[in-house]
Amino acid sequence: MDNFELFTASYKLVKDVMKVSSNEEVAITTDTGSDFQVALSIAQAATALGAKPLVVLRNEAPTVGKAMDKYLPINTLSAVLSNTDVWISLDKSYLIYSTPYEKAMSVGKVRYIELSGFNIDMIVRLIGRINIQLIYELQRRLARITSGVRRMRIVTELGTDIEFENDPNRPVLVEGEVNGPGEYMLFGQVDWAPIEESINGVIVVDGTVWPPIGLLHSPIKLKIRDGKISEISGGSEAKILEKWLRSFNDEKMFMTAHVTYGCHPNAKLSGNIVEDERVWGAVVWGFGSQSETFKGKLGLASSHVDAVVLNNTIYGDGELIVKDGDFVHEEVKELVRKLRGAA
Ligand SMILES: [Fe+2]
Repeated sequence: MDNFELFTASYKLVKDVMKVSSNEEVAITTDTGSDFQVALSIAQAATALGAKPLVVLRNEAPTVGKAMDKYLPINTLSAVLSNTDVWISLDKSYLIYSTPYEKAMSVGKVRYIELSGFNIDMIVRLIGRINIQLIYELQRRLARITSGVRRMRIVTELGTDIEFENDPNRPVLVEGEVNGPGEYMLFGQVDWAPIEESINGVIVVDGTVWPPIGLLHSPIKLKIRDGKISEISGGSEAKILEKWLRSFNDEKMFMTAHVTYGCHPNAKLSGNIVEDERVWGAVVWGFGSQSETFKGKLGLASSHVDAVVLNNTIYGDGELIVKDGDFVHEEVKELVRKLRGAA
């Protein structure tokens, strides 16, 4: 495999994305569901920069969010994550919304990036072989366009047709641009929380639903009324999702937490949610826990699920932004051409 490129990609992650400086402490968390070689390579890259890495390996947990607490070494993990300068998470069962995550975020010291389940192929393709400055610029422009839009409509050929309103006082987040302590996701997505009760229509999910499923074999149809899932239909996977959502006995698990554009030119639908939610022209709908950074109304729930919809057509106040999965807005056209050429 691309071992030479693995180190180059790891070095780029530590230096250019996480902006690690010498003597900083870097915790790399991973679990038994992830590729340990990637953790080691990132540790080597941190060492090359004069930083002090620590690799933490634990058992993969069968769930995520608050529900995973009972599987975690909570005290040890909380102590590590609350005290380190940089936290790079490769955990397949990601720690976001767990107690150690909450404790670390409340201390407010750490620069944390979530790279759940990253294997060699993913880090090389998604970080090593991308022009980071160009992708940040595309994200900034998409965020600017979206911030200026009040009413949005998203449709797909498979039957998605949903409308909602944006709150101009809420941020549209450019993911992955690390700037001081805080929580970061990999670049290649732009996300925000629309006014929850304004979201109405139908979402036909045809990509990935994680948790509890992964890549879908047949689409799942979600009816959304005033921001809440009111009906789930489809095949056996629709039943799995509904049963899982109901198992928490938490109404908030049915609430729409965020909308996301996927905009990474090298992302492929793979079953790994971190990559799938960045697929070019995909829209990801999040339900359940809503990160504080969105400045929405929901707050934390028992867990969180992401549902990936492919090949969207997106209108902002009647103007086309995305057409059949391609960014066509005038303000990004040229940049898209360059980014694809460089990728
Ligand atoms: Fe999400």
